[in-house]
Amino acid sequence: EAVDNAPAVVIGSGYGAAVAALRLGQAGIRTLVIEMGRLWDTAGPDGKVFCATNAPDQRSMWFRTRTEAPLATFLWLDVVNRDITAYPGVLDRVRFANMSVYVGRGVGGGSLVNGSMAVTPLQSYFAEQFPTVNSTEMYGTYFPRARSMLGVNTVDPAWFESTEWYRFTRISRKHAENAGLKTTFVPSVYDFAYMQREAAGTATKSALGAEVIYGNNHGKRSLDKTYLASALGTGNVTIHTMERARGIRRAGDGTYVVTVDRIDDTGRVVETKEYGCTYLFLGAGSVGTTELLVRAREKGTLPALNASVGGGWGPNGNVMLGRANHLWDTVGANQSTMPVMGIDDWSNTDNPVFAEIAPLPTGLEHWVSLYLAITKNPQRASFTYDSATDSAKLGWSAAQSAVSVSMAKKLFDRINSANSTIYRYDLFGSSSKIFADDFTYHPLGGCVLGKATDDYGRVKGYSKLYVTDGSLVPGSIGVNPFVTITALAERTMARVLAEDTAP
Ligand code: FDA
Repeated sequence: EAVDNAPAVVIGSGYGAAVAALRLGQAGIRTLVIEMGRLWDTAGPDGKVFCATNAPDQRSMWFRTRTEAPLATFLWLDVVNRDITAYPGVLDRVRFANMSVYVGRGVGGGSLVNGSMAVTPLQSYFAEQFPTVNSTEMYGTYFPRARSMLGVNTVDPAWFESTEWYRFTRISRKHAENAGLKTTFVPSVYDFAYMQREAAGTATKSALGAEVIYGNNHGKRSLDKTYLASALGTGNVTIHTMERARGIRRAGDGTYVVTVDRIDDTGRVVETKEYGCTYLFLGAGSVGTTELLVRAREKGTLPALNASVGGGWGPNGNVMLGRANHLWDTVGANQSTMPVMGIDDWSNTDNPVFAEIAPLPTGLEHWVSLYLAITKNPQRASFTYDSATDSAKLGWSAAQSAVSVSMAKKLFDRINSANSTIYRYDLFGSSSKIFADDFTYHPLGGCVLGKATDDYGRVKGYSKLYVTDGSLVPGSIGVNPFVTITALAERTMARVLAEDTAP
């Protein structure tokens, strides 16, 4: 059998993977990145690389014949989702029994589809979640390094107060303040100077053109423009796309062999190949990395993986909901897709919630205030390997979601009561569903730092095998997670390059 060798292989190309690829390349180590999605750099017949949220086509979703947007309906009408042709589109919804996980597919992973919110958690909560990590060093070195590499910036407050595009945010701020709650600006990797040009009519609209979960054609500093561009610039990094890692085993000499299926645009496997490497970095995301490892443990190809592999998973307490405003509290037909503010009640020890004020850009006034609440839900679940389907199953229950809902409800009942408003009942497919608690944008855990790995992401039971992505975070981080994932990966790579790769 032909084994193609590289000193280092990185599986995936999201945040954790991109940091690994850059730092390996800079250290002079030849590195192959394996990504199951496409490289999103070529315009379609409409001249655009990505499609907008209000006109989804085959580019929107990963091998679906109908889109599966988080909002099922609007005003009871099935107007949100569309029939599409099956294609390796950029957003996937991975369905488990009681929880769907949204993930990005393509070079850049979640950075292609996410809301760009670049939030650093409270140091005290980070220290609570990662008791063995030196948080002074994280906040002095690795968080600043991550923010600078990711290109984090903040909205100009004067422009924010005056622009029609953030009217929806100002209304939600007022309603939070009426309930005695505090709000805070959240930084972003979307270029606000570009957004202001969009508003002025001098640049092509992207955030102001309803583009986000199916990709942004302009303005967003996704990983392909930051870490991955720099990684390729070292000359030591190669990216293979449309290749899905399936198996990992160890050869007799202690090197790793990764089995990969190359797929075509219909999803058919056109080739199966093997890559050998000395150093193997797993950056396939919480779901992707954990599935690879539970499969390897249960099939006996990496039998020394410990019982913690698969455990400690949580959805970061995500709950989406909408409120109905009074007629005089208009949210505006024009809404930027990039959130810039959150209701910060995390320090309320009775009911810690951080709720981002989310857009609903329909092009029409709809009086809806939408939110993605991050609640401090202590519930955790595990992935197990299902041999019948050769895939991982997630043991998350509806009762575990109910814990997040009751926390979100407590906060928003307070806001509704202070403003004499009610919830919207028409957004999630049935009138009994006010809170969307069956999906997450923030899958975290599965290979938790210090449990499945050592304190630097080295997988226990093996040497030169690393996890660098969201699987390391124990189910909750209290804010949107990509800055934390990036900073932890920077910390891992600094340590690994200093200690493990020395000749
Ligand atoms: P990530 O999921 O980014 O990357 C994994 C990559 O590996 C993917 O490209 C995938 O295709 C690939 N892969 C998986 N399995 C593979 C296999 N077997 N073989 C080859 N490749 C494989 N966060 C935040 O901080 N601020 C925000 O505003 C938002 N908003 C947001 C909106 C939406 C719609 C989503 C879906 C998510 C967000 N997030 C977010 C979450 C954020 O995007 C997420 O936490 C990170 O992308 C996770 O980074 P990772 O490095 O863990 O993996």
